[in-house]
Amino acid sequence: MASGKSSGISASTLVIIPTYNERENLPKIVGRLHAALPATHVLVVDDGSPDGTGEVADELASADLDKRIHVMHRTEKNGLGAAYIAGFRWGLERGYKVLVEMDADGSHAPEQLERLLEQVENGADLAIGSRYVPGGTVVNWPKRREFLSKGGNIYCRLALGVKVKDITGGYRAYRRETLEALDLDSVESHGYCFQVDLAWRLINQGAKLAEVPITFTEREIGESKMSGNIVKEALLKVTVWGMSHRIAKVRGVVSR
Ligand code: GDD
Ligand code: MN
Repeated sequence: MASGKSSGISASTLVIIPTYNERENLPKIVGRLHAALPATHVLVVDDGSPDGTGEVADELASADLDKRIHVMHRTEKNGLGAAYIAGFRWGLERGYKVLVEMDADGSHAPEQLERLLEQVENGADLAIGSRYVPGGTVVNWPKRREFLSKGGNIYCRLALGVKVKDITGGYRAYRRETLEALDLDSVESHGYCFQVDLAWRLINQGAKLAEVPITFTEREIGESKMSGNIVKEALLKVTVWGMSHRIAKVRGVVSR
């Protein structure tokens, strides 16, 4: 069993790992996760990776005698948002109490997951692993990527008027009720702005968000799926959300 306070909650925790061409990374991240928190279950959501990640996931699942590893095979590369929503639905249907988002490439340290779970145990509806709160760090990111991420977060804070320091961060733990309160059918964000989308909806619903410092380490194997279209989608959507919110505020429709 896992040590520490979170061993209880980790037994009903599902860690969702979306994958696209991560065949070398996947066994490592799942191994690290189960070394850190043996009771957690895993759902790999693979979008038909041409490099065979889906088959690697199946092999991991059948080799795990404790049956903690599950695999969802999707036929098309439909973006991070769609993969996570399918994963959330799967986990909610099966009664998991906490649903975690974790990248496959080692950027999110499974050894730090307990910090996020502790926040949820202590009452947070959503715990975000944050690079930009005191104690949070980024290791080995190219300068331009760090600039884009920091700039993106500053823009989100200004446009949306929120206080979250790492609203684009993708290392998260959601209490199941938090996701049940969202209309997942209406989430249209495909790329990384999916993260902002969910946080923004939750803030407007009065949910309790907690940021915990994490060490984000750039991948050593494989490639990032970040693209110009992902940046464009985020910029456009965040601008529209911010403007609509301001208009609603002027009209007195919302108070926040
Ligand atoms: N199933 C599926 N489908 N998985 C995907 C897709 C997709 O279309 N696109 C990306 N992924 C998976 C990757 O295989 C990886 O496991 C994870 O999603 C993150 O993708 P990366 O491409 O490694 O993301 P990144 O390192 O550039 O971006 C990170 O930082 C962003 C900005 O903070 C992630 O943590 C993002 O979630 C975060 O928004
Ligand atoms: Mn990555």
